Amino acid sequence: MKVLIATEKPFAAAATNGIKNIFDKAGYTTVFLEKYTDKQQLLDAVKDADALIIRSDKVTREVLNAAPHLKVVVRAGAGYDNVDLNTSTAKGITVMNTPGQNSNAVAELAIGMMIFMARNQFTPGTGSEIKGKKLGIHAYGNVGRIVGRYGKALGMEVYAYDPFISDPTVYEKDGVVPVSSVEELYSVSNYVSVHIPANEQTRRSLNKALLERLPQGASIINTARKEVVDEEQLCELLAERADLKYATDILPDNYAVLQEKFGKRVFSTPKKMGAETAEANINAGLAAANQIVAFFQTGDRRFQVNK
Ligand code: 3PG
Repeated sequence: MKVLIATEKPFAAAATNGIKNIFDKAGYTTVFLEKYTDKQQLLDAVKDADALIIRSDKVTREVLNAAPHLKVVVRAGAGYDNVDLNTSTAKGITVMNTPGQNSNAVAELAIGMMIFMARNQFTPGTGSEIKGKKLGIHAYGNVGRIVGRYGKALGMEVYAYDPFISDPTVYEKDGVVPVSSVEELYSVSNYVSVHIPANEQTRRSLNKALLERLPQGASIINTARKEVVDEEQLCELLAERADLKYATDILPDNYAVLQEKFGKRVFSTPKKMGAETAEANINAGLAAANQIVAFFQTGDRRFQVNK
């Protein structure tokens, strides 16, 4: 059994050692393709792989066609918008993610970004405190719940909206106020922390009509996906509303323009770093390896996302 770990953005060494140990014990061969710069390197490496572990690496139809032995792909992380699920399903390939394993790392970054924006990106000048402000959690999944908990610990009033969780007790047990629409969430929040996946329903859904509901001085913190933001409309709105700020962990296509026009009101990390902690790499990487072993040894498909 050959397992390829294809990570353009490699895991920490502690995680890669742990992954290799798991596969050594199972009697599998482990091959690492790290920091690759060319799609062809992935196409070559995948051709004799039975299993594949990836992060945000793109598993397109072309990659799947180049992998005749592939039976399982595990996205070590939460979002699987980088995997062609339809082609995987058509080829009988199981796709899984590792939900929750890197959530704390992303949540800590979201909170860090809130404070960073509240304090003028740590440059001179008067900032503000996040204590007492209203925090809106857009999608109450693994990351959103932790951001909510940390927001409460910092003295914020926490609101949440999730179209897939209508039971108010889910929010109320965490001391979080559920709101009944996404429009309401954006209307009340001084900070919105975005945790929606990128899919047909959400692409460009953070548009001007929604974002202009934000109260005076609000900040949008996006540690989810850039595709969910209509970047052109965001640019228009930032020009009209000098009070709004945008921080993101996913480099916008128009970042140079945003920076030139809006200076310290916008911020992006150069490369997605929400899950870039040793702890998250170990949690997600080892979970991915264990899921692959369980898949081959017992047929365990618990985390399958292409059902
Ligand atoms: C995820 O979906 O798990 C996060 O966006 C992390 O992605 P990464 O593994 O590419 O850092």
